Amino acid sequence: GNLLVLNGPNLNLLGSREPAVYGSATLDEVNELCISTAESAGFSVECIQSNHEGDLLDAIHAARGTADGIVINAGAYSHTSIALRDAISGVGLPTVEVHISNVHAREEFRHHSQLSAVSSAVIVGAGINGYALAIQHLAKLLG
Ligand code: DQA
Repeated sequence: GNLLVLNGPNLNLLGSREPAVYGSATLDEVNELCISTAESAGFSVECIQSNHEGDLLDAIHAARGTADGIVINAGAYSHTSIALRDAISGVGLPTVEVHISNVHAREEFRHHSQLSAVSSAVIVGAGINGYALAIQHLAKLLG
């Protein structure tokens, strides 16, 4: 099987961005964690990051037929983007939503995600290990 790991806006800044909130790991290190976790579970993985909502939509659409499941940290678009929500429900692939920080312990505007209702699981506050947990969950789900 093949998985798509999608990271949205500002996640290219991981490692230097608010390390007290998001930790010190870089996006490259997150991608390496995703690749090694997927390989251990017998899956391949493609990791994509974009700061552009339309590019994230295109990547979700392209996953139809090429990927069996999606891990997405849509950053701030999680809280605003009905278009991303519609893309996830539109392609119908099992999707796990990840947030590095515990969004529920932060500002009120981070408490609601447009994506949660169309995701098969939501992992928040586990740091970058949330990506590994998400991949393990999808691997189990997809058999
Ligand atoms: C985030 C949480 C969002 O509220 C924020 O806008 C991000 C990162 C997280 O991984 O904790 O960009 O998705």
